[in-house]
Formats: sequence, C-alpha cells, structure tokens
Amino acid sequence: PDKGLKDYYAAYFPIGVAVNPRSLDGEEAAFIQQHFNSVTAENAMKMGPLQPKEGVFNWELADDIVAFAASRGMRIRGHALCWHQQVADWFFVDDEGQPVSREILLERLRTHIHTVMKRYKGKVYAWDVVNEAIDDNPENLLRPSKWTAIIGEDFVEKAFEFAHEADPDAKLFYNDYNSERPEKVERIYTLLKRLKDKNVPIHGVGLQAHWSVFEPSEDQLRYALDRFSSLGLELHITELDVSVYPWEKERRSKRADESDVYTEAMQKAQAEKYAMAFRVFRDYRDVLTSVTFWNANDRYTWLDNYPVAGRKNHPSLFDTQRKPKRAYWRVVDF
Ligand code: G3I
Repeated sequence: PDKGLKDYYAAYFPIGVAVNPRSLDGEEAAFIQQHFNSVTAENAMKMGPLQPKEGVFNWELADDIVAFAASRGMRIRGHALCWHQQVADWFFVDDEGQPVSREILLERLRTHIHTVMKRYKGKVYAWDVVNEAIDDNPENLLRPSKWTAIIGEDFVEKAFEFAHEADPDAKLFYNDYNSERPEKVERIYTLLKRLKDKNVPIHGVGLQAHWSVFEPSEDQLRYALDRFSSLGLELHITELDVSVYPWEKERRSKRADESDVYTEAMQKAQAEKYAMAFRVFRDYRDVLTSVTFWNANDRYTWLDNYPVAGRKNHPSLFDTQRKPKRAYWRVVDF
C-alpha cells in the first residue's frame, strides 16, 4: 500500500481518526487504513448511544468499530464515559420522573463505566473518562450539570475511580476543548492538580484541538503542553481539526454568506497552522503520545453546518476527494 500519514509519524506517535459506521467500508475504509493507525468512535461509544435505556446496551456500532480496528492492527481510543451531552435522561430520574439520589446516580455511573470498559478490556487502551467538565463561565470551575447537581463536584474523581476498578490497565484521560486558551489552561490545570493531589487514578489529559487558522499561537500551544505535562500527565491530541473560519466570529454570524469559500489564502493559512502544530507535537514526543483527527477528510466533517447552517468547512489534511492538501505535504515534510 502507498505510504500514509501514519508511516511518516511511525517514530513519533500513532495517528488516529474519529470514525462512524459510514467510514467502515469501500474507499473510505481503504483511505483510513492507509493514513491512520488508531481509531476513536465519533459517537458510538458515548453514553446515550451505548445505553439509551437502563440496562439496554446497543453494542452493535461500537463492536463494528472495534472489529474494524482490531482486524487491521489499529489502536482504539475510547470516547467518552461521562459527559453532560449525549447522555440519556433516564440516568437522572426515577420512575416518577423525580431526580434520583446521589447514591443511585453514582451506582448508575459505576454500572455504565464497568459494563462498557469490561466489554472492551484489552482492546480499548485509553479512555476519555470525563469530557468537558470545566465551565465556559469563569465564575465556576466545573460546568453546572446534572452530574454536579445530583452527585456534586466529586463526580469527576468518582468516574476515574470506577474506570480504574473496571480496567486497571487502561490509560485514563480527562478531555476538554479550548485547552490552549490562556484562561482555560489554568482552569483545566486547577482541576487536574486537584485530582493528582488526591491520588485519583488519572494518567493523561486530552487536548481536543478544535482549532482554526487563527488559533492557537505556537506560544499558547507550547505553554499548554508544558503546563499539563508538568503534572506528570501524558498528553493526547484527541479531536484535531483546523476550521478555516474564526470561532469567535462564528458565534455572532449565524448564516452562510459569500465569504464562505475555501480561498487560496485560507489553504495557505491552514497549512501554516498544521505545520506549526506538528512541529510542536514532534518536539513533545516524550510526553505527547497520540494525535487523533476528528473526522478523516473534507468529504464529511462535524463542522459542516456547524455552527453556521448551510456552510461547508474544510478542516482536514485531505480534500473531499480524499487527496492530500497543501497542509498534508507540510505536515509530512520534516
Ligand atoms: O443519530 C441521530 C439520528 O438518529 C437522528 O436522525 C439525527 C437528527 O439530528 O441525529 C443523529 O444524532 C446526531 C449524532 O451526531 C450522530 O450523527 C446528533 O443529532 C448530533 O448532535 C451528533 O453530533 C455529534 C456531537 O459530538 C454531539 O455533541 C457529532 O457527530 C460529534 O462529532 C461531536 O463530537 C464532539 C465530541 O464528542 C466532544 N468534543 C466536541 C466534538 C464536536 O462537537
């Protein structure tokens, strides 16, 4: 087979990709096999998809992904055991629709984590145990959610303890977005430091890396990697993509307009951002042990229509024909 991204990086770290059932056959599967040696389920291993009703587990899609990866010798990164999104309502209420007690919710969380991790023990080597627990509002450290309301802030450490019981060999990660923004770095650091000080079984931090051509800067990225690794944690880049639109502006403009074309300037800026990122990742190879892209190529990306309906994005190293873009050639040229 032709040389792929994973081959250029064989001496550094595995190169992963978020997949879903439509990735698993035909040309897409061949493409994934050429370029990636690690997979993550884009949705199939989340709480809601896996356990939509108490005790009813939908294993089919997750099993398919595990079988796909295992038969090709790819690693599997699990995502995500405890999150405030994509979790079914039954978790939090009793038969009358009233909120359950802390004890019951802890028991449900424990059962979920144990059931899922034991099924994939020895196959999924690392898990995002808690996802996006830090609040966007700087007045709180943790995001107010049903987890904090019913269990309290220690839901985070409980999730890690349950995960460690379920599979003592799995590497356990805290995963979050905007993890290179100066204000967020300190808030994530505060949470991680608390966990480490309490001897909670946590082994790494996932930086999602939903970036844009405008951010982060190299200094911001290096600072974040230094800060997190100073706690003795492994670093994974878990959801990398480089949007060609600015995130901040997107929050204000809610519709597609004539600027939504993939210009030459955008392609160049994107290639620069990717080249910088991978240069930094290579520098941190001792502590940075995985880089996963969130979707494989520009044919399909979660950023299409998000947050602006009707707008296409082009965040990958590969175009809609799965061909390497300018950014790809910069990333493999070192
Ligand atoms: O499966 C249902 C389908 O039955 C239904 O008809 C359809 C109607 O909208 O929805 C489908 O579910 C969608 C699901 O993706 C599967 O395609 C959900 O609406 C949609 O919200 C969901 O989006 C996912 C999103 O997480 C949910 O928050 C994206 O695919 C996924 O890429 C995204 O991934 C997250 C990471 O887990 C955490 N970090 C951020 C990242 C990007 O948002």
